[in-house]
Amino acid sequence: MAETAKDSRPLLGVLISGRGSNLQSILDAIAQGRLDARVAVVVSNRAEAAGLQRARDAGVEALHLPARDHADRDAYDRALADLLRARGVELVCLAGFMRLVGDPLLSAFPNRILNIHPSLLPAFPGLEAQRQALEHGVRVTGATVHFVNTDLDAGPIVLQAAVPVLDGDTVETLAARILVEEHRLYPEAIGLVLEGAWSIVGRRFVRAAVS
Ligand code: GRF
Repeated sequence: MAETAKDSRPLLGVLISGRGSNLQSILDAIAQGRLDARVAVVVSNRAEAAGLQRARDAGVEALHLPARDHADRDAYDRALADLLRARGVELVCLAGFMRLVGDPLLSAFPNRILNIHPSLLPAFPGLEAQRQALEHGVRVTGATVHFVNTDLDAGPIVLQAAVPVLDGDTVETLAARILVEEHRLYPEAIGLVLEGAWSIVGRRFVRAAVS
């Protein structure tokens, strides 16, 4: 029998809590050859997350890991770290994962956890970033992909995209235009990080100069 070539693409673990449209953008980028990686597993803390079905539809293992089965946050994060490591995950991508990530997971994946946030950080961290931007009255907001550290939405920034706020915007119309940018930005940022030619200098994500 002919031996099949081993798939050497880097493995991603994607953590979700809901809709999973950013997960879908990652799966689509992989399917279309724009991102050289493979999603090893998708984990949701919520059983009803629509993203779990998106993962299954793409033939990706999809797990529900409920918080109530774990004594505390550290125990939950240890369980997450264990299952991601057991699958050989190289990079963890938070995609609408509505939990703070604690030390057991951060130390298992140092500078190996990304998040996407719907604002130009450090403006408007936390929940409802699009509403915060609209109510503040900024004329430009956007999306940020950043490394995750112990502080909320505060790690080194990998990529950002700007989105203008229009006079007639509602939270919904603004969020929809930001989402278009999120779907473009996240796969691109994942590709950059997987390429490996970068370092963190202070707070800055610095790409190696091309010689
Ligand atoms: C996105 O707006 C993302 O930036 C934020 O949560 C939302 C998740 O949406 N962190 P989806 O589940 O990827 O559709």
